[in-house]
Amino acid sequence: MSAPAEVSWAPISWSETWEDDVTPDEHAALAVLFARCFPYSRTPFTGFRSWSSGRPELRLIGRDGPRIVAHLGILRRFVRAGEASLLLGDVGLVAADPSVQGNGVGAELLARAATTLRGLGMPFGFLTCGEAVAAFYERGGWVRVPNPTRMVRADGQVQVYDGASMVLPVCSPMEDWPAGEKIDRNGLEV
Ligand SMILES: CC(C)(COP(=O)(O)OP(=O)(O)OC[C@H]1O[C@@H](n2cnc3c(N)ncnc32)[C@H](O)[C@@H]1OP(=O)(O)O)[C@@H](O)C(=O)NCCC(=O)NCCS
Repeated sequence: MSAPAEVSWAPISWSETWEDDVTPDEHAALAVLFARCFPYSRTPFTGFRSWSSGRPELRLIGRDGPRIVAHLGILRRFVRAGEASLLLGDVGLVAADPSVQGNGVGAELLARAATTLRGLGMPFGFLTCGEAVAAFYERGGWVRVPNPTRMVRADGQVQVYDGASMVLPVCSPMEDWPAGEKIDRNGLEV
């Protein structure tokens, strides 16, 4: 039996692109991907709008032939952990196109992100996500942490995030994560 037309089994080709090097065509293709992956987002992913709140500085991009089918954004930043500053790689805009979901593309995206974060020398990866996908990140080695995370929302209001905060120990062990502290992102989620 042949596979449904929309399903692709071709190997994905991967690249890393710094934000200044993303072309207009790539921004447009990413907007299409995000519109498909985040249909309930308040962000209108139209035209060249390839970000929701904060913009990443580095993008992992997966292609099936010429078509962008996977993406993960990284932004290095210092957050405040209680009274201390903590360097981490903030991760967001994690997406696998519906046509390739359920085939390990998301897992590969997370594995590649871990390698990239290590190459950048990040002590930790960090992300905030909805309850529905926390288990996906846990499958990829991320650890849900109890810290309340405060941040600036897309509408400019400051909020304590009501979903899950997830950490990936990269160059530092999980024991070094300040589990008891409030995290202040002092900026927008990627
Ligand atoms: C989340 C997403 C990236 C997963 O991509 P994917 O290619 O389907 O994931 P994979 O097939 O590689 O799955 C990897 C593992 O995670 C699990 N998994 C995938 N999606 C999951 C989910 N939503 N909840 C719980 N587990 C999930 C899979 O069962 C698999 O587990 P296994 O190791 O036991 O087999 C993709 O579904 C997506 O883009 N969703 C829409 C956008 C989104 O919600 N992004 C996250 C924003 S924070």
